[in-house]
Amino acid sequence: MKKILVTGALGQIGSELVMKMREIYGNDNVIATDLRKLEGNPVVMNGPFELLDVTDHKTMLELAKKYEIDTLVHLAALLSATAEAKPLLAWNLNMGGLVNALEVARELNCQFFTPSSIGAFGPSTPKDNTPQDTIQRPTTMYGVNKVAGELLCDYYFKKFGVDTRGVRFPGLISYEVLPGGGTTDYAVDIYYEALKSGKYTSFIGEGTKMDMMYMPDAINAIIKIMEADGSKLIHRNAFNITAMSFEPEEIAAEIKKHIPGFIMDYNVDPIRQGIANSWPNSIDPTCAKNEWGFKAEYDLAKMTTDMLEKLSAKGIGAK
Ligand code: NAD
Ligand code: SER
Repeated sequence: MKKILVTGALGQIGSELVMKMREIYGNDNVIATDLRKLEGNPVVMNGPFELLDVTDHKTMLELAKKYEIDTLVHLAALLSATAEAKPLLAWNLNMGGLVNALEVARELNCQFFTPSSIGAFGPSTPKDNTPQDTIQRPTTMYGVNKVAGELLCDYYFKKFGVDTRGVRFPGLISYEVLPGGGTTDYAVDIYYEALKSGKYTSFIGEGTKMDMMYMPDAINAIIKIMEADGSKLIHRNAFNITAMSFEPEEIAAEIKKHIPGFIMDYNVDPIRQGIANSWPNSIDPTCAKNEWGFKAEYDLAKMTTDMLEKLSAKGIGAK
């Protein structure tokens, strides 16, 4: 990876990935792009930034040529809850953007990364320790997009030799940028509300286990899989990875260790609960560990300590 273009770079993942990649590969070598421009944002300020709608193949190709990129990290997408509310928009953006990005990678012979998700599984998938290779019949538009995306990325590798790589991210928890419309967002919101008001009303119900990961582990995973020796990869699109699996009462109990008066109640959102119910309780990341050395540093306790520290340092909850 010498010259990298990132789409959807102002989102939850992109905002942190771009900064980390600029640290490693040099500010000028990571070109951040997004549909919107946030003036004063570090991603916009400390290296190249271009407006790019990923449904516009011509502009994507022009920018890729202008910066002579050799790597494309495609992040722009609608997440699960928003995709369920706007399924046609999700299809057009998630599939249209992906095929445009893959075409640019094919035309310019770029290495390619795009994330899949635990959303690529469905109600008929084995729920516990979900294997790498298993039934994938998701019942959400997001899941349909992710499965089709995994297959399309494998197709571009086999048919055209594009070096496509991907992971199935679990819910990602972070303190820099709020998540953009997913089912797992409750596990981020809860930290903000714990600090602001000492209470949280969860839209995901008691006993609902989902895989999660702290953002530093997610960023390291992207860099690690992209740097991995391609000849060692048996799978490509996309590897199961996870750091922890918990239900709302477990994250609440962990927060209570830091904020003893913290209380949580429930007002379950049937749409997001339905999506969560269709996903695994926990997935098995063994193939990622064996094929490219995936490792997560943060468990629930370590992440909770860090999240509360970082959000407090940002002034969240300060009176
Ligand atoms: P996000 O919603 O936080 O950010 C998406 C970004 O894409 C936004 O900055 C938005 O402005 C931009 N965007 C929207 N439409 C666009 C368009 N037409 N052209 C260009 N940019 C556009 O998303 P994220 O959480 O950073 O997710 C990035 C990828 O990772 C997605 O493919 C998502 O499915 C996947 N993923 C995320 C999670 C998670 O928990 N965050 C988990 C699994 C997979
Ligand atoms: N966090 C993501 C979502 O809930 C998982 O892909 O949509």
